[in-house]
This record gives sequence, structure tokens and C-alpha cells, in this order.
Amino acid sequence: MSKMELIQPIQQHIFADEITSEIFLGLEQKQKSLPPKLFYDEQGSRLFGQITKLDAYYPTRTEEKIMERWIGSIVEEIGSNALLVEYGSGDSKKTELLLNNIDNLAAYVPIDISGIHLTKITKSLKERYPDFCIVPLIADYTLTFELPEVESSYSHKVAYFPGSTIGNFYPAEAVKFLKRVHSTVGKQGSLLIGVDLQKDVEVLNLAYNDPEMVTAIFNLNMLNHINQKYEGGFILENFRHKAFYNEAETRIEMHLVSLKDQLVNIAGREFQFNLGESILTEVSYKYTLDGFAEMANEAGFEVKEVWVDDKNYFSVQYLSTQA
Ligand code: AVI
Repeated sequence: MSKMELIQPIQQHIFADEITSEIFLGLEQKQKSLPPKLFYDEQGSRLFGQITKLDAYYPTRTEEKIMERWIGSIVEEIGSNALLVEYGSGDSKKTELLLNNIDNLAAYVPIDISGIHLTKITKSLKERYPDFCIVPLIADYTLTFELPEVESSYSHKVAYFPGSTIGNFYPAEAVKFLKRVHSTVGKQGSLLIGVDLQKDVEVLNLAYNDPEMVTAIFNLNMLNHINQKYEGGFILENFRHKAFYNEAETRIEMHLVSLKDQLVNIAGREFQFNLGESILTEVSYKYTLDGFAEMANEAGFEVKEVWVDDKNYFSVQYLSTQA
């Protein structure tokens, strides 16, 4: 087997038809919606990378600071000889700190829905960490998937889910997802997770309405993705970005608002959008520490450690599977 073949990611069931059905289902609802995973085509992943560097978008840099400040305690919790499974690895930037510091890491399984991205990133990781066992998996981690076989033996599994992507699930879905992670990591397993916290409304609103308008372009790019990959006929100029913190629901909502009455054809089906009507493209829940602990417990996890920044904006949490 050649070196290139070794790093070809394993791909698990991502069917275009299933996604088209999800698009139809979302657009049939009274409050139209589209699944946030559709943000992440190549352009979307690039735009998200730009968002994470914006002054207004505090989560990424705050999480990075927490990780850097507490890396010693974090790897102590993880222990040695672990199999690290990253959900939604993206550019694996955050993971490098772990890869550089975990004691005797047995293997690393990055999971991502974007195959092109994952292949590129794995290639560069392999070059920098030639001795590591890296087994990439292309999968939609929001659904069930099988962990690939890894050659090296390990003593326990540690799931890594940074970035507060857990906030992009509705709470009931978040519990279901955490339960699936729980069964994936099994006994003696654990989860290292980034969780964004409740804070001043102004800080939250600015983070999703950056003056540079990168978030607006990111949001609109979802329509472009649907046009390119799922036979969509959206005219991007006919929609505008809207994001706000819904205090009652403790979540940011991102919408695309129709600027006129219009019909849009998607893969042979027509959808009516009225002037001012919106498509909900993302929710981003903000938690209290107690609120998140309750949810984690419901899924069978116990919060073992919590690390936060000076302003209590963000938390990195270590959850273990309860006996
Ligand atoms: C990926 N996720 C945690 C981001 C968030 O903040 O909810 C996605 C995002 N949407 C707009 N900006 C960032």
C-alpha cells in the first residue's frame, strides 16, 4: 500500500438524496429552516476559519486561551495511551496542542463531513507527525457512525468536541448526541468539550453580526452551496443575513430573510418565500455551567473538571462516563 493510500479517509454514508430530503423537509415547515451542516462546503469552511479570527467572535480565541493555560491539567485528565476521536475536526488546529502534549497518544481519529478538507489536513498532519497513527473518517457525526479499526492498541477512548458546536444542537438533540458519544467512548471513556456560556447580550449579538460582515457572507454561502450541490435556484441578492440573541431561549438565531416575494426551485420542487419571511439556518445555545451539567448527566456523563477564562465567557469541560 502506498503512503497516499494510507491516509485516504474512510467514508461513511453521506448521501446527497438524504440531504435533499432534509432540505425539503426544512423548507416545508411553517418556520422554514435549513440544516447548519450545509454551511460547510469548501468556501464555507474557509469563511468559518475567517470568522474564528474576527475581533467580534470571542469563542475561538477564548477557548484557545483556556486550552493553552490549562493544557497540563487537561492532558493529566486524559492520561496516557488514549484513542482520541475528534468530532468535526475542521482544520485540526485546536487539536495540535493536544497532539503535542498528550502522553503516549495511541491513535487519532479526526471525523469530518468535508472529505476534501479532511484529506488535505490529514496529509499535512501525517507529514508533521509521521509516527502517529492517524485514521481519518469522513462522516456526518450528527448521525450514527462506526469507529474505524485502528492498528495500535489503546487503553481508553477520549472524544474531543471543541468550539461549542454542542450549542448548535437543540437541547433534546444535544442530549441524544451526547448519549451517542457516551456509547462510542464506552466504559472508562470520556469527553473533552467546549461549551459557550451565557453573557451580555451585546457581546453575543456582536459576535454574530461582525462589522466585517463575514458572518453574513458565511450565512448566505449556504444558499450558494445548495445551488451548486443540490440543484438549488436561490438568488443570493434576494436574501439578507439576520442574527440575534433570543433571551427566552438562551440562544443565538441566524436567519436568511427574503427581500421579496419569490419562488425558488430546488431539485425540481418549488418553494414560495414571502417578503420578510425567514429561513432559520442556525441556533447557537449559550449555557450556564449548571444547565450544561444537568444535560451531561441526562446523557450519562459526569462533569469532572471545568476550566474557564477570566470573564467566564467560555468553558472547556472534561466529562467522564458514569459507572
Ligand atoms: C460552529 N459553531 C459553534 C459556530 C457558533 O458560534 O455557533 C458557528 C457560527 N455561526 C456563526 N458564527 C459562527
